[in-house]
Amino acid sequence: MIDLKQKLSSLLAEEVSIQERLQKICAYLSQEISYYNWIGFYFRDGEKEELMLGPYVGEHTDHTRIPFGKGICGQVAVSGSTFVVPDVAEQENYLACSLDTKAEIVVPIFKDAKNIGQIDIDSHSIDPFTKEDTELLEWLSQEVAKIL
Ligand code: SME
Repeated sequence: MIDLKQKLSSLLAEEVSIQERLQKICAYLSQEISYYNWIGFYFRDGEKEELMLGPYVGEHTDHTRIPFGKGICGQVAVSGSTFVVPDVAEQENYLACSLDTKAEIVVPIFKDAKNIGQIDIDSHSIDPFTKEDTELLEWLSQEVAKIL
């Protein structure tokens, strides 16, 4: 986990655009963690109650805009709390991106105490996320907020 964090920190410090840095973060997590099968960022669209898809790695998704309250992402936009879904089949308010997705974790990103976006990870395994994943991704969310 320490090595992962070191590498993530160095990617965040690269002298390339923010979009490129976030894209590299997605690619790195996808490469390093076998059960992270779709990794992406969503950001709030200005003051609208809507999320826009940012950099991601994984299958194409139709959910490029998600209204607040809709799906797991939309719920985190409202709650501001990490949402771990061990089995997406048990969620009624869920937006399917891929039939292969079995589990999801969404971690909010706060900038100046405002919930401005999130890290979204889908897994093809059931119940793969541990408290270490939550800890890593909440740490990453704080590090990402620093470069925004
Ligand atoms: N499953 C998410 C939608 C985004 S995709 O996973 C890329 C949700 O329910 O909000």
